[in-house]
Amino acid sequence: MPFLTSFKTLKRLGILGMNARNVNYISKYNDRKLYPLVDDKLKTKLLAQKAGINTPKLFFTLSRQHDVGELQKRLEGLNAFVLKPARGSGGKGIMVIASREKELFVKANGEKVSVEVLMRHVTNILAGLYSLSGTPDVAICEDLIIADSLLKSYSYEGVPDIRIIIFRGYPVMAMLRLATKLSDGKANLHQGAVGVGINLQNAQASHAVMEQSKVLVHPDTKNKLSEIEIANWHELLELACKCYEMTKLGYLGADIVIDQNRGPMLLELNARPGLSIQVANATGLVPRLKEIEKIKEIDPDPKNRIDFVLRQNWF
Ligand SMILES: Nc1ncnc2c1ncn2[C@@H]1O[C@H](COP(=O)(O)OP(=O)(O)O)[C@@H](O)[C@H]1O
Ligand SMILES: [Mg+2]
Repeated sequence: MPFLTSFKTLKRLGILGMNARNVNYISKYNDRKLYPLVDDKLKTKLLAQKAGINTPKLFFTLSRQHDVGELQKRLEGLNAFVLKPARGSGGKGIMVIASREKELFVKANGEKVSVEVLMRHVTNILAGLYSLSGTPDVAICEDLIIADSLLKSYSYEGVPDIRIIIFRGYPVMAMLRLATKLSDGKANLHQGAVGVGINLQNAQASHAVMEQSKVLVHPDTKNKLSEIEIANWHELLELACKCYEMTKLGYLGADIVIDQNRGPMLLELNARPGLSIQVANATGLVPRLKEIEKIKEIDPDPKNRIDFVLRQNWF
């Protein structure tokens, strides 16, 4: 039976609806002219580098069709990398190259492709095939994230990511997203990924859902979801909270991945984060947001903001 069915249950749990999110939080706390900072992954990355926030290393960008002929040369010495549209969303147009075999590039799913295929892909990115509004885009080539082995063991292909909602610089809710066979290696809930609510206080799984229903084990890897505990939790929360100073956006979704060697890294930011994080946590955002709204002066130190949240009786 789908979880969260009746209006009464939603209300009792303080579930934030789409309309209230847009009116009371997004339009109130997010200045529209700041959107381009997060809608464009290249801008986000450059901003993060300046703010000392870890992100996957940028190898190069291609912005004109004329540059596509240089691709082979630009890829010299790079064995593992990702080509993605700066203004893409929902995992569209992301090509993950895990290794090379002679002249060929080996994708994460094992398929081998030639440089011509990569060139065509870049051409499609530049033409805006994957960009938000179909407008011409820029192609980003960045380092491949090697998922932390523990988390990776829970996921079916793909890199698990952790979404944290940051309100006025304070972390309010977290969710781990695990790709499934159904979600085609992507960590998007509406594509069938598993969403695992993570308790902010102890970094442990609290509840999990797939396709709106409660689940106890990952459908493909069969691992017990209740045993999940995220490592480097405080470091991860701090990285997410710093995105407030970095963007000045008051209501923000930060997507973080944990690289085997480099630890927590910012993958992307969202100024209109989805509401299903509440379903994954089996609880609503409203009481938490209201508590944070009472704060008159935002503490400039992310560490203090995290301590404030961890002292709350939300958990
Ligand atoms: N550098 C990378 N290394 C490995 N996988 C990546 C990388 N960048 C993106 N991915 C994969 O693609 C998915 C979507 O990437 P993301 O940058 O969040 O774009 P989108 O806006 O389309 O969601 C990630 O969840 C991950 O599985
Ligand atoms: Mg994403």
